[in-house]
Amino acid sequence: MSHSDTYSLPRTAFAPESIAEALAQHGACLIEGFPAPAHSEQLRTDLQHLAAEGQLKPAAIGRAGSHQERSDLRGDNTLWLDDPRCSKAAEDYLTQLDTLRSALNRLLFLGLKEVEAHYALYSPGTRYTRHRDRFRDSDTRVVTLVSYLNPEWQADDGGQLRLYRNGGHIDVYPHISTSLCFLSELEHEVLPTHRDRLSIAAWLRR
Ligand code: OGA
Ligand code: MN
Repeated sequence: MSHSDTYSLPRTAFAPESIAEALAQHGACLIEGFPAPAHSEQLRTDLQHLAAEGQLKPAAIGRAGSHQERSDLRGDNTLWLDDPRCSKAAEDYLTQLDTLRSALNRLLFLGLKEVEAHYALYSPGTRYTRHRDRFRDSDTRVVTLVSYLNPEWQADDGGQLRLYRNGGHIDVYPHISTSLCFLSELEHEVLPTHRDRLSIAAWLRR
């Protein structure tokens, strides 16, 4: 991770109390060991199979009514985890996020009603330019959680998630069994990747 930020990113386990505290105080945190290593491997295998079978589709930008495919701005291919083509590992992941959702409601009174998540695959040369997360037709996304599924990621593979905060930024490499959680209002981008970059992007919605 490189810091040109005044604060460093808190790191925590998948413990709702520490995640809530980090979100309240810093707007973001790294969750280490989530999903668990064996679960991350299952998710990675599931995503690889789905991609090889051509089940992922190019993602679009903009809200409903102004949806555009602009692969120069956003180059990932995605599939929602609640799709029946996804494995039990995807279902289990959604269950864990729902546990986090209700815990954050209890701890921070966020009124989060729903979890949504998709698999994402960025092929070499693709990126996602600086943006804020928005749901398809509204701005009800409150918390973003991105889980990475890439073993042995090297710094020169690129593909950092750059999170803008406090007038600076923090870069996170997409290492397997690591998740980044942040307030969806924060701007961020995925820098160009030089190898296949696998992840799950999830949102907790009001
Ligand atoms: C997104 C996103 C970040 C990442 O899908 O909106 O910003 O690190 N993903 O994959
Ligand atoms: Mn985003």
